[in-house]
Amino acid sequence: MIIDGKGLAETIKGELKLEVDAIRERGGNIPHLAAVLVGDNPASASYVRNKVRFCEGAGFESTLIRKDSSITEEELLEIIADLNENEDVDGFIVQLPLPEHIDEDKVTMAIDPRKDVDGFHPVNFGKMAQGLDAFLPATPYGIMTMLQRYEIETSGKHCVVVGRSNIVGTPMSILLSRKAYPGNCTVTLTHSRTKDIASECLRADILIAAIGIPNFISADMVKEGAVVIDVGINRVEDDSRKSGYRLVGDVDYDSVYGKSSYITPVPKGVGPMTVTALMMNTLKAAKQK
Ligand code: GUN
Repeated sequence: MIIDGKGLAETIKGELKLEVDAIRERGGNIPHLAAVLVGDNPASASYVRNKVRFCEGAGFESTLIRKDSSITEEELLEIIADLNENEDVDGFIVQLPLPEHIDEDKVTMAIDPRKDVDGFHPVNFGKMAQGLDAFLPATPYGIMTMLQRYEIETSGKHCVVVGRSNIVGTPMSILLSRKAYPGNCTVTLTHSRTKDIASECLRADILIAAIGIPNFISADMVKEGAVVIDVGINRVEDDSRKSGYRLVGDVDYDSVYGKSSYITPVPKGVGPMTVTALMMNTLKAAKQK
């Protein structure tokens, strides 16, 4: 079965809009998301565009702050300090990656945890790891929401996560091992130094691919009936497309589809759910203010 991330995102957008309409009617605080985009990385620009578009569809307010890649770290930290202070902004994100001369850790730490709707700040990450109330990082939160809405059983399942990034693989492994639903999985976190990734993947009831290598997961790495979640969004050259490229995931979809019980496509799978999760966090931030 194909997990329709795009359709689910639309459904949740409608639910969020109803809540925002009710807030508006009673004269409450309309959620306001700000996004900072540095430089002209086309993929980042496209992600941020989607976030702003989703805000409009759900009745949120949004502000896009675009800066040239020549911006200094100091200038960027000033923008963050202003957003932290700005009473009108409930939550904000700084789109990653940032140019090399800017320290991403420093930028992440500068964000007020109460406005950190990406859930990247160590305060939110730490709370998440301890099972306390926190802003969950957008992509893992989107995947958790998918599993929940599709009522996929996770308790006692063996989950294999491929990739240990701070924003996807590592938090995903923590969330699925928590004592909760979705959760209660036995988790294996694999990465570039794992001795035999294929045999680890073959043991997965739930396989989460987040490594950024096109079509890395082939059918012979997937157990019959596995749930396959593909986080990859890779641009590969394709002269038959007007854009000159097409998007493919980390999973070789065509061959893996037949072996899976559930699978997310790329595009229209995890991507739209990441944006949805960010909006759920922004509404939460607006309510907490
Ligand atoms: N770059 C890739 N994914 C993300 C994300 O979820 N948030 C931000 N800020 N940058 C990203």
